[in-house]
Amino acid sequence: MTFQRNRRLRKSDSMRALVRETKLSKDDFIYPVFVVEGNGVKHEIPSMPGVYHLSMDMLKLEMEEVVSLGLQSVIVFGVPDEKDECGSSAYDDNGIVQRALQQMKEWHPHLTLIADTCLCQFTDHGHCGVIKNGEVQNDETLELLARTAVSQAKAGADIIAPSNMMDGFVAAIRQGLDESGYVDVPIMSYAVKYASSYYGPFRDAANSTPQFGDRKTYQMDPANRMEALREAESDLAEGADFLMVKPALSYMDIIRDLKDRYPVPIVAYNVSGEYSMIKAAAQNGWIDEQRVVTETLTSMKRAGADLIITYHAKDMARWLELN
Ligand code: PBG
Ligand code: ZN
Repeated sequence: MTFQRNRRLRKSDSMRALVRETKLSKDDFIYPVFVVEGNGVKHEIPSMPGVYHLSMDMLKLEMEEVVSLGLQSVIVFGVPDEKDECGSSAYDDNGIVQRALQQMKEWHPHLTLIADTCLCQFTDHGHCGVIKNGEVQNDETLELLARTAVSQAKAGADIIAPSNMMDGFVAAIRQGLDESGYVDVPIMSYAVKYASSYYGPFRDAANSTPQFGDRKTYQMDPANRMEALREAESDLAEGADFLMVKPALSYMDIIRDLKDRYPVPIVAYNVSGEYSMIKAAAQNGWIDEQRVVTETLTSMKRAGADLIITYHAKDMARWLELN
């Protein structure tokens, strides 16, 4: 009888290490932080255990921890005190994100700082663009996004990550950056962003739940795959340097589609709801957190993600240290 003895290569830890196809590295991770106004603020986000709202002084300590763990990049979200109709603190040179970027650049010049570029945390209605007659206006929003990106680059952002899903946002931001002299600042486009219910905990964290309606007229229908290719292609043509798929876990096929087709770094956003589900199960003692997180992040990389934005980054960095 002849058959393949696949178990030969699974015999021992060292044999398995030898033939392992996918390995996690600290360089794969981007850690999200939430900055708020005030002093001495370190509030845990109830739906995201282990993730905090941080005022600038507390952010300093957080950044020291991030750097000491060997992580090299963070994505910054701002939660302002004041919101208005057109999200003006998003493109204020003195806005919360801009001040955080300036500080972080000063504290850790070698860290890669990624700025999430959107309006929803800054608008009183919670939508990602300007509203007229109850609808999100595409072209009027583009100008504000470009202003936001330029102001973030001025404050020290090394990468601009637009997450708003307006048509033409990459072109508008690229043009804005180039005209202001930031030709070398890359764009990490949230190219394929689904209208997902997995963002629930983030919206608590960022205080950015839409006050009416939903995001389905600009974010994608979870049922669609071809549409993801159209989104990726238009963003690449407009000058995107990275392509992101978001969320990650329910969209592994899309990650693989993009990885096979486009020769740019592919980023997976392991979103808040994915994080919270693991945290909740682990806190109940129902799963082994370290093993489940390792398996989850490994599978995202195996699916084709070159980089992963993840709230597990600090924990994973610690666990990689132990190996
Ligand atoms: C804002 C934005 C969202 C996330 C990142 N940027 C939420 C949304 O679109 O409502 C989600 C991140 C997460 O769930 O972890 N445009
Ligand atoms: Zn938004």
